[in-house]
Amino acid sequence: SSVATNAKRNPAFSTINLDDVLHFKEILGHKNVIQDEDRLLAANVDWMRKYKGSSQLLLLPRNTEEVSKILKYCNSRCLAVVPQGGNTGLVGGSVPVYDEVIINLSAMDKIISLDKVNGILICEAGCILENLNSFLANEGYIMPLDLGAKGSCQIGGNISTNAGGLHFIRYGSLHGNILGLEVILADGTILDMLTTLRKDNTGYDLKHLFIGSEGTLGIITKIVVLTPCKLSSTNSAFLACSDYLSCQKLLAEAKQDLGEAISAFEFMDCNSVEMALTHIEGARNPLPASLYKFYVLIETTGADESYNRTKLEAFLLRSMEVGLISDGVIAQDLNQASSFWQIREGLSEATTKAGAVYKYDLSLPVDMLYSIVEEMRARLGNIAKVIGYGHLGDGNLHLNISTTHYDEKIQAQIEPFVYEWTAHHRGSISAEHGLGLMKAEKIHYSKSEETVKVMASIKKLLDPKGILNPYKVLPQSMLQS
Ligand code: FAD
Ligand code: MLT
Ligand code: ZN
Repeated sequence: SSVATNAKRNPAFSTINLDDVLHFKEILGHKNVIQDEDRLLAANVDWMRKYKGSSQLLLLPRNTEEVSKILKYCNSRCLAVVPQGGNTGLVGGSVPVYDEVIINLSAMDKIISLDKVNGILICEAGCILENLNSFLANEGYIMPLDLGAKGSCQIGGNISTNAGGLHFIRYGSLHGNILGLEVILADGTILDMLTTLRKDNTGYDLKHLFIGSEGTLGIITKIVVLTPCKLSSTNSAFLACSDYLSCQKLLAEAKQDLGEAISAFEFMDCNSVEMALTHIEGARNPLPASLYKFYVLIETTGADESYNRTKLEAFLLRSMEVGLISDGVIAQDLNQASSFWQIREGLSEATTKAGAVYKYDLSLPVDMLYSIVEEMRARLGNIAKVIGYGHLGDGNLHLNISTTHYDEKIQAQIEPFVYEWTAHHRGSISAEHGLGLMKAEKIHYSKSEETVKVMASIKKLLDPKGILNPYKVLPQSMLQS
């Protein structure tokens, strides 16, 4: 079952007619104008199978000019559109709410160039993250982000959601790593911001508006990204802690001792690990002797193999001696390392296999971060499984509430409590997944009224008819003029 939305279809939008379809076929050719039911079904439903639209048309542009022509036409006809990448988004942003035309970027997957001296990659928005990483690995570079959805998410989708992921602690936000963008505005205007410069203080840095705006301000077609060097040595350690305070202390110690070598610091409670072991085929507990309350997955990356490994081994020993960890193991080879990561990266899939899932992606002060999991567990009793995991090094909790099916009564137990709690602790109700459809009406829990008003003015300026990804990100009432 999917979830219902309270958003009302904007009556100002037209509906698709035969002339529209003919026009799109003129722009794109017959093959890239999709009306096939099965393909539309797949494009109408999100990765969690939670949000379902009813679009009758999927367009697959092959270049910038085609995207520009599509939007120019849609804007003139007042046809709403939803930009779509790999459709792995977790907040219902990547699928239509009603009959919006789906513009999927998957046919725009060319790598344009790599500056091998500076590690500057230029590519189209539809490139799949993992493919970019494989290409770069051969040239001695890596992408500055990594996430469980790498096999199907696109770089354009990553930028549009400002995805964080597993290496954020090391390489930081896409706001720092994206040097340039090419974006198509709602009226078809092509904005060339494809600079490859590291420093450029000439006027407002408009590209930042499109990073994290979830397809509501423009469609990203090309990207310039600064890529870090691929270093020769990577080590992963799977550790167990008996309480949450130890996880925090371990983080502080790791920052002190491992310093610049840390490339991931992830945490999972035992309920998460149990969930992964139950639902992920082939997953095995790296520390099977006993079930500990918390698990931490640390990765270090550096240029010197023996130095890095010795450092991590010493850190593990010391942490054991002082009682910060109850047990731990360092991967002996790539296979073992990937078996650690299989558990962490498989958690999203595990929760969808287990049934329905209410997902909350919170930024919180680290000392308070696990309290919401415990409070939620106490609140819900045995009507749901509450699991907590996330990017502890970045203060980002993934609070997941797993149930057999979506149920308004259960949701009413969770919301608005979870949002009020987060606002009360001055956290963010969306750390890295975005607002999408799920949280468009909740933005005020994390942003002031004045701030949201400025956002709405920017939206109206760039997309006066509101055709780009309607009902997402901003409250509907703010956009009605
Ligand atoms: P989509 O899902 O297709 O779209 C996402 C949003 O971007 C939509 O609003 C869409 O309209 C818009 N959009 C897409 N492409 C464009 C474009 N070219 N121009 C303008 N707008 C566009 N997120 C994290 O931050 N960290 C994680 O660790 C993480 N792990 C994940 C693991 C799994 C298994 C899954 C399923 C998801 C995970 N996510 C994570 C969610 C994350 O947002 C997406 O995986 C990814 O960034 C979205 O890319 P996509 O190509 O699938 O975009
Ligand atoms: C993750 O860190 O695994 C992702 O953000 C996806 C999720 O929360 O399920
Ligand atoms: Zn995450």
